[in-house]
Amino acid sequence: MISIDLEGAQKFVPSEEYRSAQEKAETALQQLKGKTGKGAEWLGWRDILANPNDALLENIQNLAEEVREKADVFIVCGIGGSYLGARAVIEALTPFFDNHKTEILYAGNQMSGKYLSQMIDYLSEKKADDSDKNVYLNVISKSGTTLETALAFRILRDWMYDTYGDEADNKIICTTSEEGGALNKVIDAHGYTKFVLPDDIGGRFSVLTPVGLLPIAVSGVDIRSLFYGAVTAYQEYEKNAEDIISYAAMRYALNKSGFEIDIFTSFEPEIRFFGSWMQQLYGESEGKNGKGMFPTVLGYSTDLHSVGQMVQQGKRNVIETFLVVKKTQNKLTVKEDADNNDGLNYLTGKTFHEINFKAYEGTKEAHIEGGVPVISMVLSELNENTLGHLIYLFELSIAVYVYCIGENPFNQPGVENYKKAMYRLLGKP
Ligand code: PA5
Repeated sequence: MISIDLEGAQKFVPSEEYRSAQEKAETALQQLKGKTGKGAEWLGWRDILANPNDALLENIQNLAEEVREKADVFIVCGIGGSYLGARAVIEALTPFFDNHKTEILYAGNQMSGKYLSQMIDYLSEKKADDSDKNVYLNVISKSGTTLETALAFRILRDWMYDTYGDEADNKIICTTSEEGGALNKVIDAHGYTKFVLPDDIGGRFSVLTPVGLLPIAVSGVDIRSLFYGAVTAYQEYEKNAEDIISYAAMRYALNKSGFEIDIFTSFEPEIRFFGSWMQQLYGESEGKNGKGMFPTVLGYSTDLHSVGQMVQQGKRNVIETFLVVKKTQNKLTVKEDADNNDGLNYLTGKTFHEINFKAYEGTKEAHIEGGVPVISMVLSELNENTLGHLIYLFELSIAVYVYCIGENPFNQPGVENYKKAMYRLLGKP
């Protein structure tokens, strides 16, 4: 279903280095499985796949169906791990232009007053029949104190009460920790519907909990297939994780050989945002004590026409991780043109997917020649199942990799520094 192709990276690391990295990665995996490594109290993202909670999936699905039935707009209010996973899956698996029955909007992931005001204006616009839009709001915050999310929630909540009165209580859904945090106080005061993010799962590992699953289900994506795609991957890698070990080891060996930037990229625009989810997953997990590769995201072939030059001939410290989709249902084909004034008849009969795939193969070839190690994650097809598999593949791989560099994959102490400075400047008591 998913294969990891490391051939394009092999020649960039001495084979001795790679072999010893593989041993390191094997030890790291055993630490993870045995819960003996750093941050072992944060391994709930594995446990939920070992023991799937079908009742919870059904509960989420039922609520999502009710929301889809009633809502014109569903707002996902969260930041970081409390929104990236949901958006990554929704963008990957829903059509580009057909607005799902319920429109999904995002808030609380930055602090732009302009964005929030314009969102309120948009929500306040009447429908064609002059009635109010029916808006549901899902606020997601594990800590319940994150400023971006809490501020947006306050503004949107006020708008909900101004618009719907007490009925707003039934349109606000919260996803947070079992206990603690300011959000739990608000929930207790209003009796909002609440989903719990277990304490042993960090934000960036939470896409397969209600944090990601509720918004994903509201978008119409089949969360059971997504979740069970990850369960299948879990079961497969519990038996044989050779692919994961080789991938983590290759990344480790490349990093040791001086490669410092990992570009996540794809020729499929719908999975560009999945790169943003990976960016957080990798960045917050590995960027510690002066270690780790800087994860960045590009969308090809678009960005080949901007930073492609840099990738091909700039400083030789970048690697590329391609997300490749082998088969697609889309059959858009180039037709013959009688005049051929645009000179494109040589492509007659080819599907866009075939052309796009050649662009990937050509880019891979050129970049390897130019000194860029290439790793490809090849998906048979892009669907709920393969995406679920890919989510667990990356979660497991980064955990193993971070153990290889001797760090805790599950904390993010550095994220607090900007908050401290900001709160001081804002005069927080
Ligand atoms: O991965 C993480 O833990 C962070 O990125 C958080 O998800 C992010 O900061 C949002 O935090 P919270 O869910 O507490 O609002």
